[in-house]
Amino acid sequence: MAMDHHPEHPDITAEMWADIDTIIDENCAIPGALITVLRLCQDTVGYLPAPLLDYVALGMNLASSQVFGVATFYSLFSLKPKGRNIIKACTGTACYVKGIKEVMNRIGTNYGINEGDTMEDRRFTLEGVRCLGACGLAPVMIVNEDIHGNVDPKQVKNILEEYS
Ligand code: FES
Repeated sequence: MAMDHHPEHPDITAEMWADIDTIIDENCAIPGALITVLRLCQDTVGYLPAPLLDYVALGMNLASSQVFGVATFYSLFSLKPKGRNIIKACTGTACYVKGIKEVMNRIGTNYGINEGDTMEDRRFTLEGVRCLGACGLAPVMIVNEDIHGNVDPKQVKNILEEYS
């Protein structure tokens, strides 16, 4: 059931709302389709803002609390906007021992973000992740698709300045 009144949201364009309505229309009669709907909505918008979750709840004829419950339970869903560049800092044992905390602190000092944060201008999101399987290169951080190993905290700014 498509709805006429889309909530106002700066990150959701009219085209996105049209796609969201199609996603809901195609799935609202399918039991257990909520995760699929949330995944497709996140692909469309980039993350799941709260008004979108309310809108999905209405369209899928579910309680908002149920939709929020599912969206917050699965780590695949993000309720906050992500940056243009995603920094994944490995917090596994080897990287921890080799000083990934210092690397992350340096990112915090230079860019004002802690683990889980996104910069106001959305340049970077900083995520802590489990062992990336490259312990020989510890400490390791991945920026988008690029693996940076043996990261020296003093080099952090140089490395990250490449990403705008
Ligand atoms: S602990 Fe960081 S790559 Fe294994």
